Amino acid sequence: MREPKIMNVGIDFGSSISVIAADNGVRACVPSYVGFPKDMISRRLLGKEFLIGDDAIKNRLSCNVFRPLERGVLKYSDHAEENLADYQHITWVAQLLFKHLIGLATQGRPQDYLIRAVIGTPALANENNNQALIDLTESMFDGVQIVSEPFTVAYGTGLLNNTLIIDIGGGTVDLCRMSGVYPTKEDQLTTYKAGDYIDNVFFDLLDAKYPDANYTINMLRSFKEEHALVSNTDEKLILTLPVCGKPTDLDLTDELRQACSAIVPEIADAIKYLVSTYDPEFQEELKANIVLAGGGSQIIGLGEELEKHMLEALGYGSVRKIPDPVYAGANGALMYCKDTPDELWAEMKQKKTEKA
Ligand SMILES: Nc1ncnc2c1ncn2[C@@H]1O[C@H](COP(=O)(O)OP(=O)(O)OP(=O)(O)O)[C@@H](O)[C@H]1O
Ligand SMILES: [Mg+2]
Repeated sequence: MREPKIMNVGIDFGSSISVIAADNGVRACVPSYVGFPKDMISRRLLGKEFLIGDDAIKNRLSCNVFRPLERGVLKYSDHAEENLADYQHITWVAQLLFKHLIGLATQGRPQDYLIRAVIGTPALANENNNQALIDLTESMFDGVQIVSEPFTVAYGTGLLNNTLIIDIGGGTVDLCRMSGVYPTKEDQLTTYKAGDYIDNVFFDLLDAKYPDANYTINMLRSFKEEHALVSNTDEKLILTLPVCGKPTDLDLTDELRQACSAIVPEIADAIKYLVSTYDPEFQEELKANIVLAGGGSQIIGLGEELEKHMLEALGYGSVRKIPDPVYAGANGALMYCKDTPDELWAEMKQKKTEKA
């Protein structure tokens, strides 16, 4: 039998999208959804025990669909004991997603590899949240480390000093200030008004303006992902939705702008806090290096809007976007995984064995 090879992987296990980057060059992303056929008919129709990602979303009428993460962390992991059955179920859902990602990275042959993984979690995920992830992935990996998501972005892009990374995801916005060393809790902030929050605000605004229109949050999210903006535009953003069954063009420009703008104040406050509590000698440099990452970084005009807030609150600010928002976290996690010395992996393994 061949000796298994070591494979390093970086995983951005996201509320909306999970991404894997492996050192064999595989890069893959999958929406963080798992669906289970609802009954005998749907099992016959779908021919599978469960569906992952886009398949689950497409077949949501015949499936019970689950997202394992809420506000960036494994659901129920804060109160596992009080919700044991739900926690065990969601753990299994998360494992199915991880196995799917590993299957993609190993091209269906996980047994050929000893896999070392670095997984990104929200900046302020607590011990319970992170331990839950370690517990559920331990059997799949030869070694696993959990690190903060915005830190993985910083590590992968080499933005390690006097830079503030802002990772705008589905469940959380994670901010991490880099000062040339591993960031501490004081360097990080998490806010919960992120992509999902925008979707909910957008939904409510539409409901108020067009009570007879029919739509789902998925439809609104797709529209948002195409047109998201916080700046003024002369263009009219029209979505065709059924009103009492009849397709009707609805102008959603103001509602979408308002919904996207709803996340700005908390991000601006968090920037102000992390800049004003930084070493004063380096604050100007930090202000010049505000970097947006994550799916939400693609909102048109967001950088300029944050710069306006910074101008008023801090006298100056320069905001830019990283070029590859979907993969930046996983790429950075992979790099961190590869850079971790063998001795450290061995030490972690030894500790694990002793604990067991
Ligand atoms: N072009 C776009 N404009 C605005 N928002 C977008 C765009 N593309 C994706 N998004 C939103 O970005 C969010 C997903 O981003 P990302 O993949 O970084 O999150 P995640 O890592 O899954 O979530 P989290 O980090 O909170 O766990 C979703 O809310 C999605 O709708
Ligand atoms: Mg993320």
